[in-house]
Amino acid sequence: MKRINVGLLGYGNVNRNVHELIKHYAGRWGKIYGVQIEVVAVSVKHWDLHLDIVELLVPLETLIACKNVHVIIEAATGTEYASHLLSAMRNGKHIIAANKQLVALHYDELIETATENRVHFLYEAAVGAGIPIIELVRVLSRHQRILNIRAILNGTSNYIIGKLEQGHDLSEAIEEAKQIGIAEKDEWYDISGQDAACKLFILARECKWTLELNQIELEGIDEINHEIISSKDTGKRYKQVCWADNAGLAFVKNQSVLYGDFLYGINHEENGIVITGELSGPIKITGSGAGKQSTASAILQNLFAIVEGGEIFYK
Ligand SMILES: NC(=O)c1ccc[n+]([C@@H]2O[C@H](COP(=O)([O-])OP(=O)(O)OC[C@H]3O[C@@H](n4cnc5c(N)ncnc54)[C@H](OP(=O)(O)O)[C@@H]3O)[C@@H](O)[C@H]2O)c1
Repeated sequence: MKRINVGLLGYGNVNRNVHELIKHYAGRWGKIYGVQIEVVAVSVKHWDLHLDIVELLVPLETLIACKNVHVIIEAATGTEYASHLLSAMRNGKHIIAANKQLVALHYDELIETATENRVHFLYEAAVGAGIPIIELVRVLSRHQRILNIRAILNGTSNYIIGKLEQGHDLSEAIEEAKQIGIAEKDEWYDISGQDAACKLFILARECKWTLELNQIELEGIDEINHEIISSKDTGKRYKQVCWADNAGLAFVKNQSVLYGDFLYGINHEENGIVITGELSGPIKITGSGAGKQSTASAILQNLFAIVEGGEIFYK
């Protein structure tokens, strides 16, 4: 039986659930695919918070160097460990990353290092959580030019705007988003539009556009409130709309969208994406843009691409 040993970087909402799912499905995957997948090491920041898995805890340096680890699943916060992931790829390890900030800020060097070392660097969970949007953009952009992307990419902001529509103020709405576990630790990252910009940047690069992160115009959802939202014409809703196109225009802005627009009906923490190719025309996709189950789904999608030894295809 083929054996894949997994190391986890981070053990919060996402990776704790990934660990549970790997244990839960191990027997089934063994029977169906003839592969034994096991988590053999975990790196975290605060060891004292993770005494239930103390036998798996290792320092980050050990995780990166350990010959017994084939794949590292990163679902942590911050970007200070980017150089460790580059070292891990040089050590022959495949990387799956969920952290969009990390992927966006270090995109070029992460992709180049993966390509040079013939390992996978996959990050489906970083955009749209469980929506397989990276895979879709890659498939669509191989044979045609992508003309533009129009989307709601930050489920937390969409959830908060929904609460503003119901009459809550911004701080109440943020608190509710935190309570249901969908807001980033630093909620400003969601509110300011930076989270959406990182995701838009990643999608733009998958479309083979030469956009830089700092070229994306940003407007935070703190610019709107219940009064602004309720003063709009009937048949319109405010949304945090992301746009990027092959002419280099890119923004994350609060826009009112008309009833009947695909983005009008995106509710709660859902994401919705319209990707327009010159041959395919507009393709619309929606689903949960946050949450431990949908994020784990994207991570496991990537894990199986590695298990199946899929072609290493970047640029
Ligand atoms: N939650 C979602 O719905 C979702 C969806 C898509 C993508 N993501 C991304 O996935 C990542 C994880 O999200 P989460 O909700 O699981 O976050 P979380 O619950 O806050 O967990 C973060 C984990 O990262 C660990 N960590 C932070 N810095 C570290 C370092 N330098 N070295 C080792 N471990 C470190 C923390 O360790 P301690 O536990 O020891 O503090 C914690 O276990 C984030 O980047 C997020 O943007 C999340």
